[in-house]
Amino acid sequence: MAKILVTGGCGFIGSHLVDKLIGKGHQVVVVDNLSTGKKENLNPKAKFYRIDIQDPKISQIFKKEKPETIFHFAAQIDVRKSVENPIGSARVDILGSLNLLENSKKQGVKKIIFASSGGAIYGETDIIPTPENHPEKPQSPYGVEKLAIEKYLNFYKKIHGLDYVTLRFANIYGPRQNSKGEGGVVAIFTDKLLHNQTPTIYGSGNQTRDFLFVEDTVDAALKSLAYGGLSSVNSLPIYNVGTGIETSVNELYKLLTEETGKDIKPKYAPAKKGEQLRSCLDSSKIKKSLNWQPKYSLVEGLRETISWFRKNQNS
Ligand SMILES: NC(=O)c1ccc[n+]([C@@H]2O[C@H](COP(=O)([O-])OP(=O)(O)OC[C@H]3O[C@@H](n4cnc5c(N)ncnc54)[C@H](O)[C@@H]3O)[C@@H](O)[C@H]2O)c1
Repeated sequence: MAKILVTGGCGFIGSHLVDKLIGKGHQVVVVDNLSTGKKENLNPKAKFYRIDIQDPKISQIFKKEKPETIFHFAAQIDVRKSVENPIGSARVDILGSLNLLENSKKQGVKKIIFASSGGAIYGETDIIPTPENHPEKPQSPYGVEKLAIEKYLNFYKKIHGLDYVTLRFANIYGPRQNSKGEGGVVAIFTDKLLHNQTPTIYGSGNQTRDFLFVEDTVDAALKSLAYGGLSSVNSLPIYNVGTGIETSVNELYKLLTEETGKDIKPKYAPAKKGEQLRSCLDSSKIKKSLNWQPKYSLVEGLRETISWFRKNQNS
C-alpha cells in the first residue's frame, strides 16, 4: 500500500480522509500545525509531524518519509482573515503550498490532490449550477490563493511531470467541523441550537449554498487517488465536488430546527460585506470521469452531524 502524506490531517475534512486512508491499509503521515486542527481528530495509526507547511524543515520530512502521494488540505481557510490580512493568508496558502510543491518535485512525489474551493473561486456566476469551465472571479484573497495554487499545479505538471487532481469543494459540513470559526454555518447553527442559543442569520437568509456531507467529500478524494491524472488542454484534472442542489440559509435553518427539535427563531443581522448571493456547483464532470456522486441527502447528512454534536458538545 502507498505511503501518503496528508497536510491538514488534524482538521475537519483532512482527519476524515486520514481515517479512510488508514482503513484501506495505507501508511499515512500527517503534517499539521494545529492552528485550527485538533490532536483529538488525529487517527492514532497516522505518523504525526506538528509543523507549519511554510517551514523549510519540511524538506527533512519529505526525505525521510518519501511519500508517493500528497493530499494537500492544510490552509488558512478563513475568508474574512484573508480580507483583513492578505499577506499573512498568502504566506500560508501560497508560499506554504509552494514549499510542498518544491519538495514534491525534489523527492519524486507522483501526485498531489489539492483541496480547492468551488464556492470561493467562481464568485457570483452567470450559470447555476456552475461548471468548471465558467470564468473564475474570486471575491476574496482566499479564492485568489486557491486559484493561484491550481495554476501552479498545472505548471508543475507541465514542466516537472508532477500529476495532480484539483477538487473544487462546495460547502462541506459534518462531524468535527469547527463551530466557532467563520464559514461552517451548519456547525455554528447546530452548536447554538443544541445549547438553546439564538443563531444569527446575516442578510435575508435567501442566499444559497451547495451543502455537501464530509463523507461524500472524502469519497471524491479517495476516487482521485486511483485516477491516472490524464489531462489535455481542454480537460484539466480539475473537478467540482458538490451536490448541484441550491439550499438557502433559511431552508437550512428550518431543517436544522426540525431535526434538532428546537423551536428557536433566528436573529437577523445586516449582510456581511461582499457575501456571495448564490453558490452551487455542477459536478457532472467528476461523475463521468471518476464515477463519483454524493450518497447522502442533506437531511441524512444533517442527522449524522447533529448526532455527533450531541455526543461531543461541551457546554
Ligand atoms: N470546509 C469547507 O467547506 C471547504 C470548502 C472548500 C475547500 N475547503 C478546503 O479544504 C481544506 C480543509 O478544510 P477544513 O474545512 O477541513 O478546515 P480545517 O481548518 O478544519 O483544516 C485545516 C487544517 O490545516 C491545518 N493548518 C492550517 N494552516 C497550517 C499551516 N500553516 N501548516 C500546517 N497546517 C496548517 C489546521 O491546523 C487544520 O488542521 C482546506 O484547504 C480548505 O480550504 C474546505
